Amino acid sequence: MSSQIDHLLTETRRFAPSAEFAAAAIGTADLYARAAEDREAFWADQARELHWHTPFTKTLDWSNPPFATWFEDGELNVAYNCLDRHVEAGNGDRFALLWEGEPGDERRVTYAELTDEVKRLANVLTDLGVEAGDRVAIYLPMIPEAVASMLAVARIGAIHSVVFGGFSADSLRARIDDAGAKLVITSDGGYRKGRVSPLKPAVDQALGDRGQGPQESVEHVLVVRRTENEVSWTEGRDVWYHDVVPAASADHEAQPFPAENPLFILYTSGTTGKPKGILHTSGGYLTQAAFTNKVVHDLHPETDVYWCTADIGWITGHSYVTYGPLANGVTQVLYEGTPDTPHPGRWWELVEKYGVTILYTAPTAIRSFMKLGRQVPEKFDLSSLRLLGSVGEPINPEAWMWYRHVIGGDRTPIVDTWWQTETGAMMVSALPGVTETKPGSAQVPLPGVGVDVVDDSGNKVGNGGGGLLVLTKPWPSMLRGIWGDPERFKETYWDKFEQQGYYFAGDGARLDEDGDVWFLGRVDDVMNVSGHRLSTTEIESALVGNEAVAEAAVVGASDETTGQAVVAFVIVKQSYLDQHSPEGLADTLRKWVGEQIGPIARPRDIYIVGELPKTRSGKIMRRLLRDVAEGREVGDTTTLADTAVMSVISAQVK
Ligand code: WTA
Repeated sequence: MSSQIDHLLTETRRFAPSAEFAAAAIGTADLYARAAEDREAFWADQARELHWHTPFTKTLDWSNPPFATWFEDGELNVAYNCLDRHVEAGNGDRFALLWEGEPGDERRVTYAELTDEVKRLANVLTDLGVEAGDRVAIYLPMIPEAVASMLAVARIGAIHSVVFGGFSADSLRARIDDAGAKLVITSDGGYRKGRVSPLKPAVDQALGDRGQGPQESVEHVLVVRRTENEVSWTEGRDVWYHDVVPAASADHEAQPFPAENPLFILYTSGTTGKPKGILHTSGGYLTQAAFTNKVVHDLHPETDVYWCTADIGWITGHSYVTYGPLANGVTQVLYEGTPDTPHPGRWWELVEKYGVTILYTAPTAIRSFMKLGRQVPEKFDLSSLRLLGSVGEPINPEAWMWYRHVIGGDRTPIVDTWWQTETGAMMVSALPGVTETKPGSAQVPLPGVGVDVVDDSGNKVGNGGGGLLVLTKPWPSMLRGIWGDPERFKETYWDKFEQQGYYFAGDGARLDEDGDVWFLGRVDDVMNVSGHRLSTTEIESALVGNEAVAEAAVVGASDETTGQAVVAFVIVKQSYLDQHSPEGLADTLRKWVGEQIGPIARPRDIYIVGELPKTRSGKIMRRLLRDVAEGREVGDTTTLADTAVMSVISAQVK
């Protein structure tokens, strides 16, 4: 690792913004100066870019850390800010969504049309008994109704919990139960990889056969018709979207809600088996999502066509598909399907067709395009692109250079943006008209954001040093807690550096001689697979939940395309070993994990082993398993209870 890092830190290429880009850029150097002078006043200025029904007089209250409030006495309506105000400003005819389904069907939705749809849907939700503060689960493909659903829930002051469509019925059930959702919005299915991928059956499964779990909180399921596959129907509970939404009134006045009204819960993997419901509120979240989207992506709403490829099931889809872009009134592309269906140039075809100017995607996607070769994008006219963004995991310098050269034609700045579900919005990134960019480094804290790198005791490492990334100051879009678990919130993020009052992000990082930040991946048991967060413990729990498994250990091994890949070492019960082949067992378990959590969690490799490396106190030494998974010589085994274990495992893996 360390030689690899030193190699990174010798990166000397620099790319200054062109004079032309800098001259028209929205984000200027002056933002840093203003934020440095008075951080809170700076954020208050950004918040005033929104429409407040009741202006706030207080900015930050940090008297009870780690529980912050921002703009507490102000009132706003998040959906009004994303919709009505653009229509009222005369921009109702501007396209909000340029949507394309995977099979090639299209819908172009203006701000006026989206506002109308959201008003109707808000009325429907109210009719179905949803009130302010109630939770609504959203389990939809990337269709305009997904965006409309989030906004309609927000409009009536309720709380959405979007569950990624790739998650299994069990994962969905756990999230519905934890949040106590009253309503689920889903569809019959969506198109993925050229096929119908059904969604409604998973909802039925999650809601039926409840066993011992919490009592049924869900009263209704609102179902969008997308793929027209046959679905089973529970009378009295299920409602077709197309039966009720078009028929509902389009009159709906957005009511003001307090700035700290919860806006959404989004579940993310942590270091334990149980996903955490990250809670975000309204005023501060929208302020920072909108501000960062505007200055980092240099949004010019009159002329830009923006495309963030994230699914709304992830935080990037929340902040940079739904809330940021719509609060800014920009036109964006929304695409339902996978990058390679029906052909490997699908994304580039969309860039050409819609004249995309700003593209925001993940390193894993860039690396898979690199693998396919430049001849694929080269078939399309990508000259409309003027800015590229990256998010989700560290981007290696080779992928960065390829992105800039092949996709960006050597003209586009690249912004590598570091942030998390918990931070709600970008925290570390270049400003495209200001910063000289360096391939591979996320670079500098955004204006108004406090970032540092410290050692395990909280001492700053200074330039040239490596350690843990911390956030040193509260920020407007910070998580307000973990749903239903304030203790876990403190414990996970704040206890480690309680004395200093720092937020512990869980990422390793280094500062180079210029003070730029280089991210080195997670330091905890969280893996990052194709930019998706997965917990080793969660996958281990799923594995041991299978009757064949006695014990399991999961590690994230580096993978050329997906960044990391899930590798599992499993001890299988003797009775199963007697009756099944190791290959058959590995296959069964791989499928099992897919059913328990979702296809993204399916291990790349499963090794059936006789023993796991443990310390004398019984702790599994995952570091050694990672050595095996990555094909390295196994490191120091002296703390193992049985030092011979690793040679046995290495032999079994080969
Ligand atoms: C990683 C996604 C390096 C990091 C927005 C973080 C990154 C986790 C970057 C959060 C980046 C995200 N460079 N690492 N530009 N962006 N990460 O919650 O490990 O899905 O802690 O949020 O992704 O993942 P999450």
